[in-house]
Amino acid sequence: MKFFIDTANLDQIKEANELGILDGVTTNPSLMAKEGITGDKSIIAHYKKIAGIVDGDVSAEVLSVDYKKMVEEGEKLADIAENIVVKVPMTKDGVKAMTHFAELDIRTNCTLVFSAGQAILAAKAGTTYVSPFVGRVDDVTWDGIKLIKEIAQIYSIQGYYTEILAASIRSPLHIVQAAKAGADVITSPLSSILGLLNHPLTDIGLAKFLADQGKK
Ligand code: E4P
Repeated sequence: MKFFIDTANLDQIKEANELGILDGVTTNPSLMAKEGITGDKSIIAHYKKIAGIVDGDVSAEVLSVDYKKMVEEGEKLADIAENIVVKVPMTKDGVKAMTHFAELDIRTNCTLVFSAGQAILAAKAGTTYVSPFVGRVDDVTWDGIKLIKEIAQIYSIQGYYTEILAASIRSPLHIVQAAKAGADVITSPLSSILGLLNHPLTDIGLAKFLADQGKK
């Protein structure tokens, strides 16, 4: 399973990248705004910086909602760097745009996916990644991990090559559950990735090893 970090914060991207386990980055318009990045020029410049830090895929989201503008914007984003993946919302125009991008060999990440039906449509449109939002599904008392399992089952039966990118990850437990459910990728805040490190027995064991050798 690939690990992507879900942020536009350059320090956090660098920190995760230095661990050596990072396979890519996802962003969204809200995450960009959180870093004070708004306006076409700053957005493009920021994606350039992110794409220069990591070797893996960097999802850059279109802000247009109509097909023609989405295509124009997506093609511009794809030109920023080879590792840019155009992130497109699961809408009627989005499906049309993903089909168009697939024909041009421009890789896409279908975002805002909340049902198995939407995931089927995304795969049919030839998207590279499909992003079901685990945490946001949980927020409305449905089961985000169950959705990942359902999509994984359908994709395996149908032989779809689209990769399942479990998004809106809120905890280390979500990462473990997504791995068990068949996600190909998770995208997560740095805190949940680092949370995987934690185990009290590791801390106790290390403290004892050091103490037995007279080290603190
Ligand atoms: C997906 O790529 C989104 O950027 C993200 O995972 C959404 O997460 P949130 O529900 O925590 O905002």
